Amino acid sequence: MSMNDDIKEVYFSAEEIGDIVKNLGKRISEDYEGKNLLLVSVLKGSVVFMADLMRSITVPCRIDFMSVSSYGSGTKTSGVVKLQKDLDINLEGYDLLLVEDILDSGKTLFYVREMLKTRNPASIRICTLFDKPDRREADIHADYSGTLVPDEFIVGYGLDFDEKYRNLPYIGVLKPEIYGEN
Ligand code: IMP
Ligand code: MG
Repeated sequence: MSMNDDIKEVYFSAEEIGDIVKNLGKRISEDYEGKNLLLVSVLKGSVVFMADLMRSITVPCRIDFMSVSSYGSGTKTSGVVKLQKDLDINLEGYDLLLVEDILDSGKTLFYVREMLKTRNPASIRICTLFDKPDRREADIHADYSGTLVPDEFIVGYGLDFDEKYRNLPYIGVLKPEIYGEN
């Protein structure tokens, strides 16, 4: 039984994602020349994107990870966010770039950004691989956005459904019966 059997349709192939990520890395490298770049990844969904993005950035940078949980089940975020794992690095003076897998309602990242602002970084910007602007509820937008996606629940390349499918190298939508099984 392969994970591929659960996929209804492939939206972005591994090659297409690769091109999108390289393009983001190029833009970021230009903009952060001479800055003090710190990439911050919010676990776990953005870990695959982070790993590829950092290797397409050509200027010096540091990385750090944090983890938050948003209470909510299935395919929606509740907006109530809890810090599970804090960053290791003291943010003072760093040019922070928050690396997100997907900006949906924006509630999670809004919370994270407000919290990190209080720690006096030199700047904060947001880089998201996927953006669902129609779903936005919080006042937040991405400075770097890989590509817009329709209002559908996607999996793969780090994105999960019920903690599965993160290891798919491409982005797809699941067959309807898979979402229903839970
Ligand atoms: P937000 O707070 O509503 O913006 O939720 C953002 C988080 O919800 C992302 O970091 C993902 O973990 C998750 N999420 C939102 N949309 C999707 C999707 O289509 N597939 C998988 N996870 C998603
Ligand atoms: Mg998730």
